Amino acid sequence: MAVSLAALVVTAFWAMLPAYVPNNAAVLAGGGRPIDGGRTWDGRRVLGDGKTWRGTAAGTLAGTLLALVLNVLEPTLSGLVGFSLPTFPVAAGVGLALGAMLGDIGASFLKRRSGRQRGAAFPGLDQLDFVVGALVLGYVAAPAWFTATFTLPVLVIVLVMTPVLHVVTNVGAYLLGLKNEPW
Ligand code: CTP
Ligand code: MG
Repeated sequence: MAVSLAALVVTAFWAMLPAYVPNNAAVLAGGGRPIDGGRTWDGRRVLGDGKTWRGTAAGTLAGTLLALVLNVLEPTLSGLVGFSLPTFPVAAGVGLALGAMLGDIGASFLKRRSGRQRGAAFPGLDQLDFVVGALVLGYVAAPAWFTATFTLPVLVIVLVMTPVLHVVTNVGAYLLGLKNEPW
């Protein structure tokens, strides 16, 4: 049985939506107290002012809520595309959303350790940090759901497609004046 490439791409995009939205929600909601409370390590900020409690909470909430909305839309959209899209157990939605935020926070930690200031680019890491975080925490939070949903071809598509989407949305947010840097 051949599963079409288009079906795999649609499935990959759909399954990753709860992980794609958090970083953008954090950009819109960010501000307030930084998670590291201004603390430094070896003379450099632990995370920096770009990782805030408010942004992280808003991002996690947005991704989780989106997963629940997708569950409601699933029957209609599955009917439209002509194959069955996955639904999200709550644990999976939380895992994908929080994992995306934690991956991004981990990347900021590494950026500060390597002397990069807030907002500095780290090509490769910037595009994949949240994907890796989301996939790892998604697996931990809902292992059976994860292995049924993220089959090997879907995973490969996620890893190829996400950096492209990330570049496009960040350049867009920059051009709209929502973000200070285009990455
Ligand atoms: N943001 C936030 N909390 C997070 C992630 C993001 O408040 N956990 C908000 C911040 O206002 C941040 C903006 O979203 O400045 C853009 O996010 P990002 O590009 O990840 O942060 P940078 O400011 O570029 O900082 P860094 O160099 O640490 O990535
Ligand atoms: Mg940045």
